[in-house]
Amino acid sequence: MPIVGVSNQKGGVGKTTTAVNLAAALAENRRVLLVDLDPQANATSGVGVVDPEHTIYDVLVGEVSARRAVVPTDTDGLFVLPASADLAGAAVELDASEDDLTLLRKALIGVRPSYDFIVVDAPPSIGALTLNGLVASDRLVVPLQAEYYALEGIAAMMETIERVQGGLNPALSILGIVLTMADGRTRLSNQVEENVRGHFEGLVFRTVVPRNVRLAEAPSYGQPIFAYAPASYGAQAYRQLAEEVLERAAEG
Ligand SMILES: Nc1ncnc2c1ncn2[C@@H]1O[C@H](COP(=O)(O)OP(=O)(O)O)[C@@H](O)[C@H]1O
Ligand SMILES: [Mg+2]
Repeated sequence: MPIVGVSNQKGGVGKTTTAVNLAAALAENRRVLLVDLDPQANATSGVGVVDPEHTIYDVLVGEVSARRAVVPTDTDGLFVLPASADLAGAAVELDASEDDLTLLRKALIGVRPSYDFIVVDAPPSIGALTLNGLVASDRLVVPLQAEYYALEGIAAMMETIERVQGGLNPALSILGIVLTMADGRTRLSNQVEENVRGHFEGLVFRTVVPRNVRLAEAPSYGQPIFAYAPASYGAQAYRQLAEEVLERAAEG
């Protein structure tokens, strides 16, 4: 099973929400590792982990193994390699050398056999951390906010992906694009969906994640949506997305 990176250079498009809830949905019947690669550490706090002893920063600088930094969460089958604010330091210390950009990939080799799925929550902006995430991933899930300018940001993302494919990770491919924060009742949302599907065709997941206040509330309780509001529209959407991810991952 692949290492799935959740990536988009744009902030606020639903990357962390997707990484956390996709990982939690997959954990309903698999062993899943969520890797938090963002100094904001929203995925870490989103699964209820506060003040972890070791973080991904310690792993990237070679102080501890990934295995030692991983902590279990309250969700059965879901584990997290946590981040903290000091990861912002790594973003500055790392350069564009092959050595520095393959740190995460090398760090995950040791833990990979212990999990059925690894989901990486990437930071916004393009830098050494994001590139580490792209180099470590086999497949990408690209969240796209269902708004008027949705297609503008994605061109830069596609260029970055092509650059990584042409260099350190030729095997990288897009598993799918997922529309997030859609307001199905508005004409705008429907138009954006039509546009994106027209442009990317089969690459776009059938599942559209609706704007759902439960999804925005859950992180402040340190819970994935399935613990916080299992019957919500948000929970239904991420369960469906996980099914599609499993189907596509199995197809290869
Ligand atoms: N489907 C959704 N419905 C409502 N709020 C959402 C949804 N997805 C994300 N959000 C909220 O939007 C904000 C940005 O989402 P986030 O997942 O943190 O994006 P990113 O990781 O790309 O910066 C957060 O406050 C989050 O709670
Ligand atoms: Mg985020």
